[in-house]
Amino acid sequence: MADKRHLWSGRFDSAPDEEVFQFQSSFEFDRRLFDDDVTGSLAWAEALGSAGVLSAEESRQICSALNAIREEAHSDPTFIEGPDEDVHAFVERQLIERLGDLGRRLHTGRSRNEQVSLDLRLYLRRQIVHLQVGLEGLISALCGCATSAGEAIMPAYTHLRRAQPVLVAHVLLAHAAAFQRDWVRFETARDEADAMPLGSGAVAGTSYEIDTQALAQNLGFTRVVKNSIDAASDRDFVSSMLHACALTMVHVSRLAEDLIIFTSEEFGYFELSDSVSTGSSLMPQKKNPDPLELVRGKSGRVIGHLTGWLTTMKGLPSGYNKDLQEDKEIVFDSERNVLNSVRATALVVASLVVCSRRTEAASTGMLLATDVADYLVNRGVSFRRAHEIVGGIVRDLVAKGKDFSSLSPEEWKGYDTSFAGDVGEYITSRASVESRKTPQSTNPAEVKRSLAAVELWVQTQRRRRTE
Ligand code: ARG
Repeated sequence: MADKRHLWSGRFDSAPDEEVFQFQSSFEFDRRLFDDDVTGSLAWAEALGSAGVLSAEESRQICSALNAIREEAHSDPTFIEGPDEDVHAFVERQLIERLGDLGRRLHTGRSRNEQVSLDLRLYLRRQIVHLQVGLEGLISALCGCATSAGEAIMPAYTHLRRAQPVLVAHVLLAHAAAFQRDWVRFETARDEADAMPLGSGAVAGTSYEIDTQALAQNLGFTRVVKNSIDAASDRDFVSSMLHACALTMVHVSRLAEDLIIFTSEEFGYFELSDSVSTGSSLMPQKKNPDPLELVRGKSGRVIGHLTGWLTTMKGLPSGYNKDLQEDKEIVFDSERNVLNSVRATALVVASLVVCSRRTEAASTGMLLATDVADYLVNRGVSFRRAHEIVGGIVRDLVAKGKDFSSLSPEEWKGYDTSFAGDVGEYITSRASVESRKTPQSTNPAEVKRSLAAVELWVQTQRRRRTE
């Protein structure tokens, strides 16, 4: 005789092998969907009532038992336990223990295939906001640091070689721009999860008169899935979520890398606060950026979750397959690591000190070469010719170990007659940043405007949420 604790015992002669049962059980991790499972079950009990499958009284009794189960789980942290295969089986067992045969009626016309999709959609719809709040915190910390940097100038790098002078604030806002895109990407993943799958049955739809639109509305969805077969195995919303997580980790990792470099002794552009640094057990002088390195390291696993998941998905025949159960652990692990990484990085950024003496000192010299070429262009020399003239000046200065500031008006003129006596005024890092004209440039007025715009964006998101 089969062990009756399994949902499908009727079909089998013997109980499942314990080790195999444990292997395919998901209760250990999908218990996290408990609240969503109860929410979905409450709505389903009501829908069965409206469809006339359950009487109003039966529907009411099931709902009140489900609410009691939820309350018990909230008041007793050890409650969500048992030999159940998954959280759906757990809730059903609890219901049957309370209501007997009536509890066995809730699953009428419903499959775990659609139930698990619903639960995960509900879960992501409420969880994604926490990641967005985390991103807002990081963006806000970057704005704070940009504000304290004022108009301090540092070199911008290409190929990790000094390229052109920019405002320190401009560099910080470059990272903020990527995080704003991540925020939107999470919003898109949330939208994608916004489709109600109940009514799909196991794969072919349900044969009861379920008002799926009313059910969707009741559960806070704006639409119903389009096709029951697709609904059984559509996890695009999971892929989009994992993609948003992976790309966010790429961005925090790149910020971490910038800060690891810029806080090193060699650069010294920023100072890490002691509160977010670690010492060495051996070398007394060390002040290490461990949290930033860990953020960089964790990006690997979150990217791995996305690539692993897409590999899992790509070979699946249509309809539900148990492989899909793999979605939950990686979603939970990704969101946890993104949130922890974003928050730790925000704390590091919030306590950064800009060492403007160092950044300014590094922003003079050869990285003004493009400005010298632009000076000549403004006096009618073609850009290619100007590039060649300035290249020659650079070659001479490098050989002498000097830079543009050492040149007298006569020496300038010696290179090209287009150089006037005022050339020195144009060839400074301040003049360089001020000469930029486009809205996305490092022109101090534009940086100030875009800093204000990013701050306003953060405030708007925060206000929208509390309204
Ligand atoms: N634990 C399963 C999952 O996460 C729930 C759905 C099970 N459905 C099934 N036909 N075995 O995907």
